[in-house]
Amino acid sequence: MKVGIIIHSHTGNTRMAAERIEAKLLENDHSVDLIQLQPSPGWKPGNKPIELQAIPDPQEYDFLIFGAPVEAFSLSSVMDTYLRAAPTLQGKRCTCFVTQFFPFAWMGGHRAAGQLGKLCTEKGATVEAKGVINWSSPGREHRMTATADRFKGLI
Ligand SMILES: Cc1cc2nc3c(=O)[nH]c(=O)nc-3n(C[C@H](O)[C@H](O)[C@H](O)COP(=O)(O)O)c2cc1C
Repeated sequence: MKVGIIIHSHTGNTRMAAERIEAKLLENDHSVDLIQLQPSPGWKPGNKPIELQAIPDPQEYDFLIFGAPVEAFSLSSVMDTYLRAAPTLQGKRCTCFVTQFFPFAWMGGHRAAGQLGKLCTEKGATVEAKGVINWSSPGREHRMTATADRFKGLI
């Protein structure tokens, strides 16, 4: 299957989790593109308006995985901007995950993952699973691997 992993990552955590997922999918011989959204040069979290250097096209993928950091108990504004601007996801299957600093998903992770899932659903996709990875949790490594395994099992 052709899988697109579309992420926003400012400091690399979400990218690391996405690379873990990518590696798992490659074990099953899927074709995987890991695409990182790029805001305009010099952008920092909190800066608005957000201009993306490109709006990656999700249409060419059979399955999509969206990943983003939590920002102020909400979904990253870069991912929010992207999904509002992106072409339709009608008929697409997808999963979503977020990374956050705090150790418990109720500290913004569940909310941000819910916002991400809702944006995908509103664009016409079927969201098959959501994940939260808590960066300061001692269970982080396990959670990253478990999320990657869970997503792999769906595709
Ligand atoms: C502006 C800003 C707001 C943040 N707000 C939260 C938050 O509400 N809850 C949380 O757990 N982490 C928060 N974080 C931490 C990031 O979500 C966390 O470090 C994430 O893994 C960063 O992902 P990245 O390295 O892919 O950018 C915030 C970070 C920034 C820069």
